[in-house]
Amino acid sequence: MKTLFINIKELIQVRNEPISFVAGTDMNVLPSIKNAYLLVENGLIADFGAMKDCPSSEASEIIDATGRILMPAWCDSHTHLVYAGNREGEFVDKINGLSYEEIANKGGGILNSAKKLAHTSEDDLYEQSKVRLEEIISLGTGAVEIKSGYGLSLEAELKMLRVIKRLKENYSIKIKATFLGAHAVPEKYKNNKQDYLDVLVNEIMPIIAQEKLAEYVDIFCETGYFSVADTEFILKAGKKYGLIPKIHVNQFTTIGGVQAGVKYKALSVDHLEVLNDEDIEALKNTKTMPVALPSCSYFLSIPYTPARQLIAAGLPLALATDYNPGSTPSGNMNFVVATACIKMKMTPAEAINAATINGAYAMGLEQELGSITKGKKAYLILTKPINSITSIPYNFGSNLIEKVFI
Ligand code: NIG
Ligand code: FE
Repeated sequence: MKTLFINIKELIQVRNEPISFVAGTDMNVLPSIKNAYLLVENGLIADFGAMKDCPSSEASEIIDATGRILMPAWCDSHTHLVYAGNREGEFVDKINGLSYEEIANKGGGILNSAKKLAHTSEDDLYEQSKVRLEEIISLGTGAVEIKSGYGLSLEAELKMLRVIKRLKENYSIKIKATFLGAHAVPEKYKNNKQDYLDVLVNEIMPIIAQEKLAEYVDIFCETGYFSVADTEFILKAGKKYGLIPKIHVNQFTTIGGVQAGVKYKALSVDHLEVLNDEDIEALKNTKTMPVALPSCSYFLSIPYTPARQLIAAGLPLALATDYNPGSTPSGNMNFVVATACIKMKMTPAEAINAATINGAYAMGLEQELGSITKGKKAYLILTKPINSITSIPYNFGSNLIEKVFI
């Protein structure tokens, strides 16, 4: 099966040689070909170039992309999109002035979602989650990482991970699973956090490894949730089971989580709304990707990850949604890219690099997705007729996508 796109106004994120990620000043370089063609063969990018070199092809399908931009699908490396119900009640509390912490203290927050999930069957959870997955595909996402962490018990964590596995089996979007048992301390272990951590490590991790239910391990390293010592405990145990760290750090406070992530060779450290010089220093010359979640900052009205500071330090940055019921009830990567430009002062080129190739790297998919490179999966976004790639963040509330190819 061959599909040929012709007359593409601009083919974006063209990388002839495969790269892992872009960092520092390179983030502002977004290679493209104007008036281009692209040939897809058996789902893979087979060829591309300037229209004048377009092969006269026996393609079974020809798509005329006149006036339209073609680009790699978004790579969303941080979500919690498997969850039960919603937290609309807390949304109103927030409007009335309660902070994330105050809402958690009055029975809301992660434990509220865990309660709902405990009373939701695996089938129901699957049905609710697939609606969200289908929505993000329609918004241009071609790869997504999904975390557990609203189970907080052996049974419910496995329920979440099995739902993720089922989504993986039934959809062609690339899905990566992360075990986030250490998302909050459940009520039952309120005064015995270590006992809960022992359950995660001794009871749940072996099953995850045996059933191959996750590739990554995460922990909410934050004041009032899990300490740096807890983080090291979980990451060390994860390593034994082949689980690579991707962790929540520095959302509200900086307590050394970045350094712990780097020490355990985390693939990514995510959130980073609050960063100090030592944190930035610790990330230099590592393979750990910093990940910013601007729609979380938007929804919670908390600081935005200091993108300019990270990029000026020569570091890379990825962008993801954090899609979850509490802090980011949105899986829209277009909005993330726009918000990164508007609020974090990233250029459109930087934001698109962060949401494609760097996002792919942050979930171990940089060889398969995230750029227009021969041999990569042809997971693509075809825009409506638009002026330039800048239109995407500029027209922040509009859907400029005509079709998504997954
Ligand atoms: O990434 N910060 C921790 N976890 C989620 C929010 C979880 C929730 O409130 O349900 C986040 O923002
Ligand atoms: Fe998160």
